[in-house]
Amino acid sequence: KKVVLTGIKSTGRPHVGNYIGAIKPALQLAASNEYSPYYFIADYHSLTTVQNREQFKEYVYGIAASWLALGLDPEQSTFYRQADVPEIMELSWILSCLTPKGLMNRAHAYKSAVEQNLQNSLDQDAGINIGVYSYPILMASDILLFQSDIVPVGKDQIQHVEIARDIATHFNHVFGETFPLPQYLVDTSTAVVPGLDGRKMSKSYNNTIPLFCGEKELEKLTKRIVTDSTPPQEPKDPDHSSLFLLYQEFASEDEVKQMRNNYHSGIGWGEVKRELFQVMNRYLEQPRQRYKELMSNPREIDKILHYGAEKARHEANHFLKKIKEKIGYSG
Ligand code: TYM
Repeated sequence: KKVVLTGIKSTGRPHVGNYIGAIKPALQLAASNEYSPYYFIADYHSLTTVQNREQFKEYVYGIAASWLALGLDPEQSTFYRQADVPEIMELSWILSCLTPKGLMNRAHAYKSAVEQNLQNSLDQDAGINIGVYSYPILMASDILLFQSDIVPVGKDQIQHVEIARDIATHFNHVFGETFPLPQYLVDTSTAVVPGLDGRKMSKSYNNTIPLFCGEKELEKLTKRIVTDSTPPQEPKDPDHSSLFLLYQEFASEDEVKQMRNNYHSGIGWGEVKRELFQVMNRYLEQPRQRYKELMSNPREIDKILHYGAEKARHEANHFLKKIKEKIGYSG
C-alpha cells in the first residue's frame, strides 16, 4: 500500500484552514482504505515558537483531540506525536549532513523572517533560532522516515515537500536508491483558505476561525469575515468568494447548488454569513462535543498517542537501520 503522511504543528488551536487544507483530505484518503496513513503532531517543530510549558501541552492535546474528534481511527491510521519517535531526530541529523546550507537559505519561512528583520533595520538573523532555520530538514525526516508517497498539505507547505524530495534525491545519489520520492497533494480549490481579513488563514496572522470554538464565537467570527461592498440584489461570483469557499466545505451538494444560484441571482452578504454559520455549526456540533470530552481526558489521548508511537517506531526502527547500514554505520 502507498504511504500517505501529514503533520500539523502544535502552535495554537487548530483552525478551519488546517481542516480544509490538510485534515479533511487526509481523513478522506484514510477512509478509502487504499493507503497506509501516518498522521502526527509536529511537537518538535512547534518548539521553534512555543516555549511555555502549559501552553505547549495544551496545544499538543488540542491538535490530537481535533484529529480524533473529526474521525481519525487510531487502529487504521498510525497516529503519533513526533517527539515520541526519536528515530525522526536521528534521521534529521543524518539528512542535515546531506543538505546544502544554501537550500535552507532559500526556504520561504526563513527567508521571510530575514526580510522582515531587514525591513525593520535589524540584523538579518535577529530572533531567528537554528530550529527555524533547519525546520525543513526535520520535516524531510518526518516524511522520508516512513517512505511516504503522498503528503496532503496546503499550498504553504509545497516548498517543504519539494525540499524533502531534493534531499531524498541527493541521498539516493550518494548512497544508492533508498527513499521513494514524496509527492505533495494539494487541492487547488482550497490550497489557501482565506482568514477573516482575506489573507491566508494562519495562526500567525491572528485571523483564524478555530475549529472547535463555541457556537457563539463561531457565529461572531463568521460575521467578521470581510466582504466587498456589492449591494445585496446584485449578482456575485461564487468562485471568487471566501464565504462560498467555506460554505462548500460544510454544506450538502444540494445546498451548494442552491447557494450558487443565490449568488447568481443576488443575495446579501449578511444572509450568506448566516447560512454559512448554520452549515458549519451543524457539521461541527458533534465533533465539538467529542473534542470537549477528549480535552477533559488527556490520559485517554496519551494512551492513543503512545499506541501510535509504538506502531510508528516499529516501522521507523527497521528502516533507520537500513539507512544507517547504507552509510556505513555497522549494526
Ligand atoms: P501547519 O501546522 O502550519 O499547518 C498544518 C496544515 O494545514 C495547512 N494549512 C492550510 N491549508 C489551506 N489554507 C490555509 N489557510 C492553511 N493554513 C494551514 C498547511 O498547509 C498544513 O498542511 N510544517 C508543517 C507541519 C509538518 C508537516 C510535516 C506536514 C511538519 N512535518 C510533514 C506534512 C508532512 C506546518 O507547519 O503545518
